Amino acid sequence: MPHKKVLVVHYSQSGQLDEAIKYCIKPLLSDKNISVVDLNLKPVEPFPFPWNILDFLNVFPESVYCDKIPLESFNINKNEEFDLIILAYQVWFLSPSLPMSSFLQSTEAKVWLNNKPIVTFIACRNMWLTAQEKMKRLISQNGGVLCDNIALTDAGNALETFITTPRWMLTGKKDKFWFFSSAGIKKSDMQNCVRFGQAIKSALKNNLEKSKKPLLRGLGAVNVNEKFIMSEKIGHRSFLIWGKFLRKIGKVKSRARRVFLCIYLLFLILMIITVVPLTLFLRVLLYPLMIKSLRKQKTYYEEPSGSKNFKENNE
Ligand SMILES: Cc1cc2nc3c(=O)[nH]c(=O)nc-3n(C[C@H](O)[C@H](O)[C@H](O)COP(=O)(O)O)c2cc1C
Repeated sequence: MPHKKVLVVHYSQSGQLDEAIKYCIKPLLSDKNISVVDLNLKPVEPFPFPWNILDFLNVFPESVYCDKIPLESFNINKNEEFDLIILAYQVWFLSPSLPMSSFLQSTEAKVWLNNKPIVTFIACRNMWLTAQEKMKRLISQNGGVLCDNIALTDAGNALETFITTPRWMLTGKKDKFWFFSSAGIKKSDMQNCVRFGQAIKSALKNNLEKSKKPLLRGLGAVNVNEKFIMSEKIGHRSFLIWGKFLRKIGKVKSRARRVFLCIYLLFLILMIITVVPLTLFLRVLLYPLMIKSLRKQKTYYEEPSGSKNFKENNE
C-alpha cells in the first residue's frame, strides 16, 4: 500500500469532540502506512469554559458571520501535501465554531485543502444543518471537495438538551439531575466512530479517496431530524439580524455591546416563553402539509454520506 498522510484538524473545550475524533482515527493511527498529522487549533485568546452567560452570548455575532479570530501558528509545513483531511468541529450558534471557521480562512487552509477530499466530523447538541452549509461554502472556497460528513448529537431529546446542554456550558456540570439524563454525546456513539476510521483506512489502502466520492455510505454517518429544519431556518434568520446589529454596536469587549447583549438576553427569554411554544404548535399543525418538502430537504442535508446503515438493515 502506498504511504498516506491524513490531516486531522480539531478544537474542543470540554474534550468531548477530541474524544469522539480519537475513536474515529484509531484505526488510522495503528496503521504503519498511514501518518496522521494532528492540528489542535488554539485561539490566541482562549475562550472560557465553563462560560458566563454574557461571554457565551457575546460570541454569537462573530460566530454567525464567521469572522476570523487569531489562532496560534500551526506547527506544520505550509507546503505539506495530504491525501485526506478531516475537519472535526462543534457548532456555535448554528455556525461552525470560531476556531474552525477561522482556520478555514487561513492561508494554510488554502494550500492544504486545495483539490483534496475532505471529511467533516461534527459533535454538537443537535442543530448542525446551517453550520454545515457554511462549512461547505468555506471548504469549496479553499478548493476542497467534501466527500463525507459524520454528525454526532447529544443523547437526550430536544427538550432535555435544551436544559442540559446550556447547563453544561454554563456550569461545566454534565451529570444527570432531577429527571434529566446526562448532557453530551453517548459514550457508545463515540466508541462506534471506529467504524468510520476502518472505512477510511480501507479506502486509503485502495486509493479510493482519489475519486473524491463518499467513502462512508451505508455506515449511518448522519441522521437528519426533519423537525429541526424549520427551527434552524427561523433561528438563523433571527441570529443574522441581531448579529449584524450587535457587531455594529461595538467591538467584542465594548461596554455598549454588553448593554445590548443584556437586552438581547431579555429578548431571548421572551422568545423562549412565547414564540418557541407557538412554533412548536405550528410545527405539529403544518407537519402533514410540509412532509414532502421536509423529506426532500432531509435527503439533501444528509448528503454526501447519507443516513442508511447497511449493517442495521441486514440484521
Ligand atoms: C457558544 C456555544 C454555542 C453553541 N451553539 C450550538 C448550536 O447552535 N447547536 C448545537 O447543536 N450545539 C451548540 N452548542 C454545543 C456545541 O456544539 C458542543 O456540543 C459543546 O460545546 C461541546 O463541545 P466541546 O467538544 O468543544 O466541549 C454550542 C456551544 C457553545 C459553547
